Amino acid sequence: MTTLEFRNVVKRYKVRGAGRSNELLAVNDVSFTLESGKTIALVGQSGSGKSTIAKLLLQLERPSSGQILLDGRPIRHRGKGLRDYRHQVQMVFQDPFASLNPYHTIAHHLARPLRLHGRARTRDQLEAGVARLLERVRLTPTGEYANKHPHELSGGQRQRVAIARALAPEPTMLIADEPVSMLDVSIRLGVLNLLAGLQREENLGVLYITHDLATARHFSDEILVMYKGQIVERGPADDVILHPQHEYTKLLAAAAPNPELRLQQLAGA
Ligand SMILES: Nc1ncnc2c1ncn2[C@@H]1O[C@H](COP(=O)(O)OP(=O)(O)OP(=O)(O)O)[C@@H](O)[C@H]1O
Ligand SMILES: [Mg+2]
Repeated sequence: MTTLEFRNVVKRYKVRGAGRSNELLAVNDVSFTLESGKTIALVGQSGSGKSTIAKLLLQLERPSSGQILLDGRPIRHRGKGLRDYRHQVQMVFQDPFASLNPYHTIAHHLARPLRLHGRARTRDQLEAGVARLLERVRLTPTGEYANKHPHELSGGQRQRVAIARALAPEPTMLIADEPVSMLDVSIRLGVLNLLAGLQREENLGVLYITHDLATARHFSDEILVMYKGQIVERGPADDVILHPQHEYTKLLAAAAPNPELRLQQLAGA
């Protein structure tokens, strides 16, 4: 089992306001452990620090204090240690269009990480690797999708390409920051189900960041509720939704009164 741990992580940003510089505590003493084979949902209002946690996990930012540990060892920020980390921890972004280059084919987008992470070398290996990735995200016939450009795909198909690209290095952890919030409501559930299926098949650890309590409950083992940089409530998904303790979670739960109904709406039923 692989673990990715946040231990008392703090992230401060300097912000300028009215000529003075102030400090903002975007993440304030946060601890949790993501395990392979498990999904944690991170929910919380806008500005509560969710994406900052994602950026810290991806090493796009460094903690001001505290530690991030992979399998119990502090993560490395450079050299081979960083490259190994990037094999293991991959990201699915909110906006699939922004993360794909309009000038390159889908095959190009998928071949690149396969090559970079040493998963395929020869032309034949790359072609087979690309086809396999497309198959895993159910974009078939694969030959057809491989030669398309991002603008020729729907939003949902583009997000599937982004997911395939994240899978290319064969990661153990996937960080998904609002992976479906920019997609049409009717196709969200399909993409989330795909993620859940992959998570099971590959025994991935998934951090699912969302505003949506219904899908958080349905797709995760554990829910962490963030409020102003802190985790104010945590526990098994059903407990947190059905018996919220913190005022903010109660508000969230009240705003999503019937998760089952909401899922049916998402499914277009
Ligand atoms: N690079 C930065 N410099 C200064 N402040 C920042 C920076 N990045 C984030 N912040 C601030 O940190 C806080 C947390 O932001 P973050 O993006 O993590 O929130 P979030 O929970 O992801 O919100 P949303 O639901 O809107 O995506 C916010 O107050 C934000 O303005
Ligand atoms: Mg965010």
